[in-house]
Amino acid sequence: MAKLLRWTGYVVGVLLLLIVLAAAYVWIASAQKLNARVEPRPERLIPMEQASLEEGQHLLVTRACAECHGPDLRGTKFLDVPNVATLYAPNLTLVAKQASDQQLAQAIRQGIGYQGESLLVMPSESYANLTDAEVAALIKAIRATPTGGQRTPPRSVGPLGRIGLAAGQFKMAPQVVEDYAAAQAADFGPKFAAGRHIAVTVCSGCHGSTLSGKEAEPGTIAPDLTMAGSYDLPAFKKLMHTGLPPSGRELKMMTGVSRKAFSHFTDEEIAALHAYLVERARRAP
Ligand code: HEC
Ligand code: HEC
Repeated sequence: MAKLLRWTGYVVGVLLLLIVLAAAYVWIASAQKLNARVEPRPERLIPMEQASLEEGQHLLVTRACAECHGPDLRGTKFLDVPNVATLYAPNLTLVAKQASDQQLAQAIRQGIGYQGESLLVMPSESYANLTDAEVAALIKAIRATPTGGQRTPPRSVGPLGRIGLAAGQFKMAPQVVEDYAAAQAADFGPKFAAGRHIAVTVCSGCHGSTLSGKEAEPGTIAPDLTMAGSYDLPAFKKLMHTGLPPSGRELKMMTGVSRKAFSHFTDEEIAALHAYLVERARRAP
């Protein structure tokens, strides 16, 4: 009996040790990713006096910046899942007071915060495709937004979030930027370039780098955008303006982002995006 107890004790001890080692591994591996400092590339923008404020304000809305950072850019609690993470989309009116144009541009296009930290969730993988003129316009519009509000608290990542990071299921923004750069949506030449540009600078964030679909958030799939090929222009316009597909039923993610962001696209932008997506669907194998 005593012997059996002793052996049970050993087994439990070894199991506990393994659990402690696994937890230490997850902690160290995730901390390494969360604290990773990536050297930003120098950003080349057009001179600020040539940047268009109106274009920047249009991009702030249509590229969904305002959806996460708030209509007044003063920050929102963007994600709050117990044990996974609490993430704030920062107050950009205050960040803009601290950060240079280079630093804002590297946050937008490279996923590297102004203090050099790797960002999480910020969809720089799509914004990496914005032109130098568009990024300059965005920065001009951010700087023109009235300053106010509080600094948002720092992000905190819980045990499940850390397991996801250690296992490579969640990735830091600079890594996602790199992954996206390696596989891009098909290019059908100048005739479809304007529509493709919109798709790769915003739709790709949820629908994937090649627009062939991905899990937009745990449990929610954003489908392959060949689906858009079955939409005629009026139905596509209705989807962009109201977030409702032809069936009229609300969609879990798409309805909200359409109403807040895509309803601000001009008719010309919607037509260009539609033309590209229809061509892409037509050429799909
Ligand atoms: C899906 C939500 C989301 C969208 C859309 C989004 N952001 Fe962010 N952004 C975030 C989050 C979250 C962070 C902070 C990430 C962190 O703490 O690791 C962030 C960080 C930033 C930062 C870095 C701030 C710093 O501390 O250095 C800038 C600048 C920024 N975003 C600008 C923009 C602009 C401009 C757009 C639109 C072109 C945009 N964001 C769209 C969620 C978003
Ligand atoms: C914030 C994430 C997100 C962004 C950004 C996004 N989508 Fe979606 N989209 C989804 C998800 C998720 C679905 C699946 C339905 C749902 O759960 O909302 C979807 C569904 C769709 C559908 C299928 C609707 C149907 O008939 O069921 C189309 C078409 C579509 N999106 C087009 C676009 C286009 C075009 C853009 C860029 C202008 C875009 N989406 C940007 C998340 C997104």
